[in-house]
Amino acid sequence: METKAKFYAGAVPVLLAIAWSIWGPNLGQFFPLMSTDDPSDTGNLKGHMQRFGEQAQNYGHITTLDFFPDPEVFYRDYVRKSVPLVVKGALKHWPAVQKWKNEDYLRERFGHSFFNVHWRNLSDENHPAYVDMPMTDFLDTYRKEKIYMDSTISPEMAEDLTFPGFVACEGLLKMLKQVAMFFNAGWSSTDIHLDVTETIFAQVVGGRHWILTTPRDGKYLYTDDFEPHNGISPVNQEAVDLTKFPDVSKIVIYNTTLEAGDIIYVPEGWFHQVRTKGGAPNIAVAVFINFLWCMWECPDSNDAEYIESCIKLREQKPTELECNIRMEDLTVREVLTKYPYLTPPAMEQWNEKEETDPFLLKSGYEMPMLGLGLGGMPHKDAQTAIPHALKVGYRLFDTDPEDESEAALGSILAQNPYCRREEVFIIVKVHPKHLGKDATKKSIERSLNRLKTDYIDLVLIKAPSCDTQGFECEADEKRGTWQESWEALEELNQTGTVRSIGVSNFKISQLKELLQKATVPVSVLQARFDLIKRNTKLRKFCTKHGIQFMAHSVLGFKWLDEGYPESNPFFDNPRVLTAARKYRTSPATVLLRYAMDRNITVVPKSSNPVHISVNKHAFYIDVDNDPSFMNDLDENFPHMN
Ligand SMILES: *[C@@H]1O[C@H](CO)[C@@H](O)[C@H](O)[C@H]1NC(C)=O
Ligand SMILES: *[C@@H]1O[C@H](CO)[C@@H](O)[C@H](O)[C@H]1NC(C)=O
Ligand SMILES: *[C@@H]1O[C@H](CO)[C@@H](O)[C@H](O)[C@H]1NC(C)=O
Ligand SMILES: *[C@@H]1O[C@H](CO)[C@@H](O)[C@H](O)[C@H]1NC(C)=O
Repeated sequence: METKAKFYAGAVPVLLAIAWSIWGPNLGQFFPLMSTDDPSDTGNLKGHMQRFGEQAQNYGHITTLDFFPDPEVFYRDYVRKSVPLVVKGALKHWPAVQKWKNEDYLRERFGHSFFNVHWRNLSDENHPAYVDMPMTDFLDTYRKEKIYMDSTISPEMAEDLTFPGFVACEGLLKMLKQVAMFFNAGWSSTDIHLDVTETIFAQVVGGRHWILTTPRDGKYLYTDDFEPHNGISPVNQEAVDLTKFPDVSKIVIYNTTLEAGDIIYVPEGWFHQVRTKGGAPNIAVAVFINFLWCMWECPDSNDAEYIESCIKLREQKPTELECNIRMEDLTVREVLTKYPYLTPPAMEQWNEKEETDPFLLKSGYEMPMLGLGLGGMPHKDAQTAIPHALKVGYRLFDTDPEDESEAALGSILAQNPYCRREEVFIIVKVHPKHLGKDATKKSIERSLNRLKTDYIDLVLIKAPSCDTQGFECEADEKRGTWQESWEALEELNQTGTVRSIGVSNFKISQLKELLQKATVPVSVLQARFDLIKRNTKLRKFCTKHGIQFMAHSVLGFKWLDEGYPESNPFFDNPRVLTAARKYRTSPATVLLRYAMDRNITVVPKSSNPVHISVNKHAFYIDVDNDPSFMNDLDENFPHMN
């Protein structure tokens, strides 16, 4: 199910490439369209405005067996000759086919593992956002929301699978690219596309209708009439407009229906459109084989030339394959353990993903680059947000002493099953109303009690003074200064209560004064940063002095308080939306990644579990492969320095 989308060519984005095809660019509706009545003047066009396939004048035949041919035969007669094959009922003995229809089993066995999921309506209809989700969260959600699991299988899943008999040999598995799983509630319908691997697709639970066309019939799918040439047809598979795309009628249709336990082999280059059948759950497993490497071996070209090059490459391959070792009796996990050289890069880490390194503060402690902001969050929301964040891997929490966030965090951390206290980094603030030595110490004392902890990772003086724009204080003649508060923090550091100290909302002149006075290093400055207000001078100053810059208000909601018309200035912005679509993520995640790529720590506030998960995906979106959309934001988004 992987397309030739050039965007994803390269080292990392195996999962991205696979997923692309499921949510193609022309998939207009989430739920398949009903066929519309024929207008009279097109009444004799067979299948006009009906689903792809209904236009067929001619059908081809897909060879269908009820046993696996030997791998050597499969190679010689099918792979080498580009012939699709269906094997019916051959996987009935897979433990997966028996067990995976039971959601309790899925929950129990795979519940805590994380999988790649795409979520449909975070950026817009046609461009999914990626999110890492534990299986339990997916099962809780997938019947209600437009989510689709599309992921490398987990090691535990690999224990419930064997390689299908016709590929279970060393000769073929040496070309293994990935074993992936596709899981949804039974509503998916792909666009019409081709893959960049040999695809061996096994239906585990539920069914699927497959429609295939020969590679050369791709010319009737108009893929080259539109940029980009990525192997995806512009024809809407839900309602084929024959007045616009008359050649679709010329296509010879090869169709078949898979039930649980059936398997289809689709050679690289065959176009296909696939629709799930039956309700939830619908689960399939695909084995992708890198046989041709066509996308890498052939020069950049349009789809028609690409297909011809692939056909030629296939013809040049040896006519016979040596199988060497047979492995049909081993589970997939046993195969990859016993023959580690067969393990493809995509499966080496079994979905373990690298996060950006935590930042080493001047105090010598490490602080994660992304955390959850809790300030101003209602207690009830915090009760669900914090455990979810811990579960999906958040370890940095930014609290506010003026609301209930410390108490919420404290009570959850006191019985937190996800990690130890030492693994969590807690930020506490001192409100300017508590400036002065004693008041600051008392404020921190209260925070410690509410947090039920005996040390704080980072304390920030929230503002250098009271004001009327967010830091309102009651009149108090005895209130001290930030300089005195800083001394209090240094003392608390010496006594072991506070590990790192810093300030918020300080100007350069104030920081200069602080640096002259401080005997304990200033580890962090928290200040405003977003795409419009970039605070470049302040950030440069911080970098020069080894102070880590942490953004507040990075998602732009502060502009609303400041009278920005109607809505958040970023979430509907075309530049941000384009980047979100291209990186397959949400607008918020784009803004977070933009900041993180500038070494800025971010602590976005959210009480929505999905948003919390998607925000964390800022670590994983594939900016390196194509930074142009981030560069566009950097250069062209109207901004102040
Ligand atoms: C998806 O869209 C629906 C309808 O617009 C909305 O109610 C829901 O909150 C959205 N889901 C997410 C996760 O944003
Ligand atoms: C193929 O499509 C035709 C027309 O829709 C249908 O009659 C036939 O049953 C399909 N074959 C399979 C195996 O699904
Ligand atoms: C106090 O601060 C210093 C310098 O930032 C740091 O090295 C030390 O570990 C801190 N003390 C504690 C108890 O964490
Ligand atoms: C971010 O920090 C790292 C390590 O201190 C540094 O090497 C890198 O140049 C910084 N990047 C930016 C964009 O400032």
